[in-house]
Amino acid sequence: MAAHKIALIPGDGIGTPVTQAAWKVISQACALDGVELDGTWLDWSCDTFLKTGRMMPEDGSETLRAFDGILLGAVGWPQKVPDSVSLHGLLLPIRKNFTQYANIRPHRLLPGVVGPLRTDNFDILCIRENTEGEYSGAGGRVHQGTADEVAVETSIFTRKGVERILRFGFEQARKRRGKLASVTKSNAQKYSMVFWDEVTDQLAAEYPDIEVSRYHVDAIAARFVMAPETLDVVVASNLFGDILTDLGAAIQGGLGFAASANINPDRSAPSMFEPVHGSAPDIAHLGIANPIAAIWSAAMMLEHLGETASAARVMAAIEATTAAGIGTTPGQNSTDEITRAVSDRIV
Ligand code: IPM
Ligand code: MN
Repeated sequence: MAAHKIALIPGDGIGTPVTQAAWKVISQACALDGVELDGTWLDWSCDTFLKTGRMMPEDGSETLRAFDGILLGAVGWPQKVPDSVSLHGLLLPIRKNFTQYANIRPHRLLPGVVGPLRTDNFDILCIRENTEGEYSGAGGRVHQGTADEVAVETSIFTRKGVERILRFGFEQARKRRGKLASVTKSNAQKYSMVFWDEVTDQLAAEYPDIEVSRYHVDAIAARFVMAPETLDVVVASNLFGDILTDLGAAIQGGLGFAASANINPDRSAPSMFEPVHGSAPDIAHLGIANPIAAIWSAAMMLEHLGETASAARVMAAIEATTAAGIGTTPGQNSTDEITRAVSDRIV
């Protein structure tokens, strides 16, 4: 079988050590299954921006298109480059240009991890719309710097976009506990969110086996904390999903455990896999970033590439590591210690 061509973009801050950790661990797992990975490291980052004026080369998108998967660490170092420049120069255009419309974020407690809720019963799969909505980038500013200044940023919700993300959520619910929660704010936002509710109802008729609930985003935020066991698959717009997945990460024990996959389900372009945590410049020099979120994201990549056996090896090694009490509390173990522990448990 041909090797899987993987683009590795460590990016900024702790993105580098966690991407190196993830690559080491998945390479080891794949070797046991005779699966070949062909990695290409791309130094696209804020430092690259300072040198070249671009986060990625002009033909960066074309370069990436040739890969089977993209493993990304983190983007952003606001002291060097404003986030509004760095994110719009690298992470966000990849999600949009490659139609990675489904951002999958699993939130569950790994063995040995005690989350802030002190419950064992926490397993939510968030499906975040990833290409439009509040992140569409439609807007502008006029009369800048004057008393008459106006800033407009319009959310865009298309039938195609809303329908495909909800459908993706319904399919995920079928593979899990058969429950779908659709998130809006249709009591206040009477166009886009009422539209989202309508599409939810239309699709629900096609999935009679799925139990559908509609929640307002504020109410479901409370439910994440008060009754998380009532939730299974949660489908939300780009911004609502962004916020709810940091909450999900916190409940699963911290951002060091939160993995994500930016999926192009049609496979017309590569998908991208990244930990949710970001670049964390404040701890970047300390060597204590938890690589588990990145390793888990890389396991999701193997799964997407059809390498389910290797993916399962990686997940089992992560779980054996946390079950042994390694990497379960922030700052307790170094990045290297956790990586070695996972690596030692790849069997
Ligand atoms: C995330 C991040 C990004 C987002 C930022 C860095 C633009 O918070 O992946 O959750 O909002 O999508
Ligand atoms: Mn976020």
